Amino acid sequence: MLALLADHRDQARTRLRPEVWDYYEAGSGEEVTLAEAEASWREFRLRPRVLRDVSRVDLTTSLLGAELASPFVVAPMAFHALAHEDAECATIRGTGDAGNLTVISTRASRTIEEIGAAATGPWWFQAYLMRDRGLTEALVQRAAAAGARAVVLTVDTPYVGKKDKVSGTRIAVPDDQYLVNLAQHLVPGAVGRESAEQDPSMTPDSIARLADVGGLPVLVKGVLRGDEARRCVDAGAAGVIVSNHGGRQLDRAVPSAHALPEVLEAVGGAVPVLVDGGIRSGTDALVALATGADAVLVGRPVLWALAAGGAPAVTASLQALTAHLQHVLAVAGATCPADLDPSMVVRARA
Ligand code: FNR
Repeated sequence: MLALLADHRDQARTRLRPEVWDYYEAGSGEEVTLAEAEASWREFRLRPRVLRDVSRVDLTTSLLGAELASPFVVAPMAFHALAHEDAECATIRGTGDAGNLTVISTRASRTIEEIGAAATGPWWFQAYLMRDRGLTEALVQRAAAAGARAVVLTVDTPYVGKKDKVSGTRIAVPDDQYLVNLAQHLVPGAVGRESAEQDPSMTPDSIARLADVGGLPVLVKGVLRGDEARRCVDAGAAGVIVSNHGGRQLDRAVPSAHALPEVLEAVGGAVPVLVDGGIRSGTDALVALATGADAVLVGRPVLWALAAGGAPAVTASLQALTAHLQHVLAVAGATCPADLDPSMVVRARA
């Protein structure tokens, strides 16, 4: 892990209420998948190129029309107000200032409109298909109006994963924070949190439906198999995000690093493929990019930065990841992500 990220993590641990720290760090079940996430990127060894002119490295990345300083994207995460008083408004500003892209969670603790107004860079909106589908559609329309450039439909959460560390909901998120973006759509007293729960009967039809509703491309997040990725692309997905939800959904799900090659093969370049889970350094990102990913998402390190120092710390964290990726790319003999290919990574013996 990069030193700055570890430093932010240590600061976050002391600053956050213990139950918030637990909520951020937790994985589901026995946390087998969580424990493997970071280690799985380190299983790969690099086969560098030499005698290339690497005096200039260009990390600029184009993702569905968004121009980024580097292929780092901030993963959607709930309730940033638990980490910082400016919540998602600080995250989106910090990320935009670094030249990167933010994905804003449905469970954001500021309104979509406030967050859109604070944005200094491109952003996407993460949707859950909720039991009341009209709610999801209203949020997607508001996100489009507020400036979101794509929708990320999270599909690995038919039910929320059970996390022992947060059992008994020690993290009491009050309704006025939980329902920040839903309140205006709910009839007071008539509908509550249950209509905002994920709909376990969701099918691939939702992909095209949400694309129609918002007029935006829809990426699907939470895919760990090639055949499932293909199903999403066939149903109209504009991108696929390989993810096990940071080890928070199905415990013992495979690490994203292991699922990535089969997803890339099945998608065959038809749409961008992104990956997340345990990315903590430029070298982790290098492994993902050389395998064939178009970009990587970073989750918890952004919450640590937010807790440690608000927007400027988020900017610094992303800049540190970018600088490190730039360095390792050059030392591996590449001048840009397109120079990388799967021959440059080999899985070390297990
Ligand atoms: C998440 N994640 C998540 N994903 C999503 O699609 N919608 C959400 O609201 C949330 N909320 C959320 C809260 C917290 C506290 C965490 C840690 C994660 C999952 C997230 O987008 C991402 O997949 C993982 O966090 C990536 O792994 P790392 O980088 O945290 O290891």
